[in-house]
Amino acid sequence: MASDKFTIQSFRTAKVARRPISMLTAYDYTTATLLDEAGVDSVLVGDSLGMVMLGYDNTLRVTMDEMIHHTKAVARGTRRALLIGDMPFLSFHISVEETVRNAGRFIQEGRAEAVKLEGGAAVIDKIRAIVKAQIPVLGHLGLTPQSVNVFGGFKVQGKDIDAARRLVDDALLLQDAGVFGLVLEAVPDTLARVITQKLQIPTIGIGAGPHCDGQVLVIQDMLGMFRKMKPKFVKTYAHLGDEMVAAVKKYIEEVGSGQFPQAEHCFQMEGGLLSKL
Ligand code: KIV
Repeated sequence: MASDKFTIQSFRTAKVARRPISMLTAYDYTTATLLDEAGVDSVLVGDSLGMVMLGYDNTLRVTMDEMIHHTKAVARGTRRALLIGDMPFLSFHISVEETVRNAGRFIQEGRAEAVKLEGGAAVIDKIRAIVKAQIPVLGHLGLTPQSVNVFGGFKVQGKDIDAARRLVDDALLLQDAGVFGLVLEAVPDTLARVITQKLQIPTIGIGAGPHCDGQVLVIQDMLGMFRKMKPKFVKTYAHLGDEMVAAVKKYIEEVGSGQFPQAEHCFQMEGGLLSKL
């Protein structure tokens, strides 16, 4: 194992040292190698791949086989970062047995080092069983996208006192069940601060403000590649979508005008062979 390897123990150490944790999503080998080279602490193969890679309207159609396929690819490109696989809708709802088997697939087939799953009290028996099977679990509360139909859309969560109390209770319950960290998605930053202060495990925010112990973003969002929607919490660090369109336009133009390929892109036959053809 690389000596600088980021592990679930590093999560705890980072919280104690107040050293913010960086996490990004990846869904393919090439992107994973680049994120690892840049030094990100953790790579999440999120079920957001359903939207940004597969073009679904939400994450509900994503299957276990799709998640395992992409996790395998990301694992081949990840060395230092902690690799986490996201358990898709229905993969942890039917029974405890099925849940542990599916979590195990992420580890055995996908070569992930941990799994993430959405939900609090309603899925606590499943989380306890996965932890008991020696599989590290990252929790996920707030705007959990697999509950989009229950929420009636992608809406900020925990805005009234009852909802905020439920989130605090769920966070403590998850910690008690043994999760090594907790994603907080689209909750008021003041609530995220309270939860972060109450927990010994680190919180990883996405749309949860600056007081979390770390941050996560979807890679296509932060690189400006996904143009269908842009949540308020996304900061665009590059405009690769625009650059890709411009590059492809230039390529089309050069193919059309014969400017590409040039001699430097061509192979030559050995001298004299041409006359024998
Ligand atoms: O699926 C995903 O990418 C996620 C993160 C945004 C936390 O759950």
